Amino acid sequence: MLVFVHLPYLRISPKNGAHPRFSRLSFACNAGLGDNASLLPLRAPARIRKTLLENTEPMIQNDTFLRALRREPTSHTPVWLMRQAGRYLPEYNRTRAQAGSFMQLAMNPALATEVTLQPLDRFPLDAAILFSDILTVPDAMGLGLSFAAGEGPRFERKTDSEAAIQALASPDMNKLRYVFDAVAQIKKALNGRVPLIGFSGSPFTLACYMIEGGGSDGFSNVRRLAYSRPDLMRRLIDVNTEAVTTYLNEQIAVGADAVMVFDTWGGLLPAAEYRTFSLAAMRRVLEGLKPNAAGEKVPTILFTKGGGIWLDEMADSGAHALGLDWTVDLAKVRKTLGQRVALQGNLDPITLLTDPATVARAAEAVVRAAGPAPGHIFNLGHGIVPQTPPENVGVLVETVHRVSREMRQASA
Ligand code: CP3
Repeated sequence: MLVFVHLPYLRISPKNGAHPRFSRLSFACNAGLGDNASLLPLRAPARIRKTLLENTEPMIQNDTFLRALRREPTSHTPVWLMRQAGRYLPEYNRTRAQAGSFMQLAMNPALATEVTLQPLDRFPLDAAILFSDILTVPDAMGLGLSFAAGEGPRFERKTDSEAAIQALASPDMNKLRYVFDAVAQIKKALNGRVPLIGFSGSPFTLACYMIEGGGSDGFSNVRRLAYSRPDLMRRLIDVNTEAVTTYLNEQIAVGADAVMVFDTWGGLLPAAEYRTFSLAAMRRVLEGLKPNAAGEKVPTILFTKGGGIWLDEMADSGAHALGLDWTVDLAKVRKTLGQRVALQGNLDPITLLTDPATVARAAEAVVRAAGPAPGHIFNLGHGIVPQTPPENVGVLVETVHRVSREMRQASA
């Protein structure tokens, strides 16, 4: 059978005319174009046929996550879980042991690809997230990151003095090549199965770990610096903003289908400092993001843990979606923000430490709170905890898919 591709659907990247890629083809083609060479218009010039075959990426087969980010209708609510690849999975622990340490795992693109795919092989999740860490960026600035077994992250050098902050510069992206190589390898291994999420820490959250030299109860040294030397805090945030923007652009250039900014500690700040040191910097990051190789804007997710009180301002940041922690009333936020942004969240991860029936009830409550309108991505309100029984994750994903399908059918 011969199917003609309408040439208007063929997009040429404005930046690089040598990279034409199919965006929306006029036929339902779920596999890579490479498998469908016979579908190419035979009357297209040989040169165009050749370039198309060489530069096409597999179409995304399950694009519910990307559609929900754009607030387009989907057959079910897409679901992925923060820290979906991690210590609750025995196969992750085996790969980590084989790598030797968390950083050796994250710095090895083949092993990072393997662990990224592990949760997808167990559960029908609707997105993959790059296996890496937010602290790779300050590590590349030369701060010396390590994770001791059973402990949190540690930096050899703190960035807590005027001299250290003045000496800081956005890192050479070649030092983060292992991350971009992992993105490219994961994309290849996914072969269009689901979209891949790239990510970064927010400029402020990175500053928190840099100033304290690791984790902290309330990051009091960070808050003290913000109040006593706002000029130094601003300089640190500016360096991080440039680094994060470049880092995310590199991930987009090698194939990330969406990007998420994790602002884990923005919620510790008073409103005025949150606006100045966290939200304004994230807005600048979003403004600095470039289109992907197909010339398309990549959808973005902003997550400030403890940021429930600022969602209205966050919705003006330019992000496509806001991540919600579990303290937020999802139905109320949906009502107040309407269709301004998509929402991602927000089951308490501790729910997964109960029994399957409780997990199913709680997951259903989140799906119903979001309602049948487009623009909800199911997630936890924070990362999955290592004690989580994997069976409960299976129940969660099945419940979200089933209940959201039923809810859409009932409201159709
Ligand atoms: O979500 C995913 O599956 C992708 C991978 C991912 C990791 N870290 C892997 C990881 C992502 C997106 C992160 C982000 C991250 N890292 C954040 C922001 C999100 C959040 O949780 O708030 C933060 C604050 C960090 C910093 C970090 N990394 C801490 C505090 C720790 C130690 C605490 C812990 O949970 O172990 C890490 C280590 C880390 N990053 C692990 C994983 C799977 C566990 C390390 C191990 O295997 O020993």
